[in-house]
Amino acid sequence: MKISMIAAMDRNRVIGKGEGGVPWHLPRDVARFRSFADGKHLLMGRRTFEEMKGWFTNQTPIVLTHQPDYRPVVGRRAHSVEEAVTEAFEDGAAELMVCGGASVYTLALPYADELLLTLVDAADSFENSVVFPDYLTDVEWETLSEDYFDADEENSLAMTFLHLRRLSPSSLRPGRLHLI
Ligand SMILES: NC(=O)c1ccc[n+]([C@@H]2O[C@H](COP(=O)([O-])OP(=O)(O)OC[C@H]3O[C@@H](n4cnc5c(N)ncnc54)[C@H](OP(=O)(O)O)[C@@H]3O)[C@@H](O)[C@H]2O)c1
Repeated sequence: MKISMIAAMDRNRVIGKGEGGVPWHLPRDVARFRSFADGKHLLMGRRTFEEMKGWFTNQTPIVLTHQPDYRPVVGRRAHSVEEAVTEAFEDGAAELMVCGGASVYTLALPYADELLLTLVDAADSFENSVVFPDYLTDVEWETLSEDYFDADEENSLAMTFLHLRRLSPSSLRPGRLHLI
């Protein structure tokens, strides 16, 4: 089973505002997200799940939470990344796509085989900005594709779609996860 991560970030790796929500509205990026997430198992933190509630159609969200009694309205919960990976694997999923937010990206990065990044041409600064982890230090990635799009009438910011595949061996597929 492949583990991928999908995220949109600015030049400072900002992905969200402290109070929640993303700092931009970019339909091109939303369409990319929809197309990659279609039909997949999606791992996300409870905060991101609550923001996306009502969005899911044919996806299977796995919601990371510490709360023992949390019941997501769709999908299921997990209490660790390892539990989520195991659940998706046991479901027969070909891919588990990590959808954020920052805390889950940080926990899942050591497992990620591929990154689907949207590099947004902005450098905003918010109080308590939520930031994607440093994915370039200590890990080598091969660029599978890189596509640049100018800003246009619908998308107020230019962006680059980047698809990376891990070259260095994944540092953390511990224990039973070696089997996956
Ligand atoms: N630009 C993008 O691509 C993108 C994508 C996704 C999200 N975002 C943004 O990111 C922000 C949210 O990120 P965030 O980091 O604040 O929140 P988050 O990762 O979405 O969710 C945090 C929650 O996940 C649970 N959690 C975290 N670590 C855990 C662990 N080790 N074990 C069990 N549960 C754990 C906890 O839930 P409980 O409190 O229930 O225990 C925690 O409160 C929002 O602004 C959102 O819009 C941006």
